[in-house]
Amino acid sequence: MIKVHLKIKRFNPEKDKKPWWGEYDVEVEPTDRVLDALHEVKWNIDGTLALRRSCAHGVCGSDAMRINGRNRLACHRLIRDEIQNGQITIEPLLGLRVIKDLIVDMEPFFAHYRSIMPYLVNDTDPGPRERLQSPEDRARFDDTTKCILCAACTTSCPSFWARGEYVGPAAIVQAHRFIFDSRDQGAAERLEVLGDSNGVWRCRTVFNCTEACPRGIEVTKAIGEVKQAIASGKVR
Ligand code: SF4
Ligand code: F3S
Ligand code: FES
Repeated sequence: MIKVHLKIKRFNPEKDKKPWWGEYDVEVEPTDRVLDALHEVKWNIDGTLALRRSCAHGVCGSDAMRINGRNRLACHRLIRDEIQNGQITIEPLLGLRVIKDLIVDMEPFFAHYRSIMPYLVNDTDPGPRERLQSPEDRARFDDTTKCILCAACTTSCPSFWARGEYVGPAAIVQAHRFIFDSRDQGAAERLEVLGDSNGVWRCRTVFNCTEACPRGIEVTKAIGEVKQAIASGKVR
């Protein structure tokens, strides 16, 4: 076991005038995750600490937060990889309203997600079998199927911090997953949404999104492909 000093940004809008740093000493294994250390605080030191988490295995996307200044999933990062001089600093995601402590209001993020029609659009009759697709066509959008909607990308993007109306990298990744799907017929509508003033052209190729993505998705590359599709008017 090792000792870790956790510095956690706390804020309860019902009683705090401004955010403050909560400081806690916990004992954990170096191979524990940052989420385990947060549980140690919540379960054994201060039950008022508020955070979201569910699967604890990098699948649900609910525990994205800023760990030592970088957007990460708390269940994805080991203590030994994050500890710096005995300390780990944890803050809520930037660019979204803090509801309490590490919990932010995800509604603006999901509104952007809904705006790009994140579902297969095809009203034709598929016939007696499923809609077939070649392995090559499936591979075209494989990377963007991995998104777990954790918001680590969008909330690390300076263009989103400056203008919350920017649809953001996560919504573009989700759009990419359908735009380049050979079975889908909704690309034109999605490209119209993404071609407007709050769409892909707000992206300045900063790459924070790619660096933040816990699924290793090439987010900036996917955004570039959507930009290309809008500029050329072609998706295939
Ligand atoms: Fe999270 Fe990556 Fe999806 Fe962005 S693209 S929401 S960082 S999984
Ligand atoms: Fe933002 Fe990623 Fe573009 S960080 S500016 S969406 S490359
Ligand atoms: Fe589900 Fe971390 S708790 S991704």
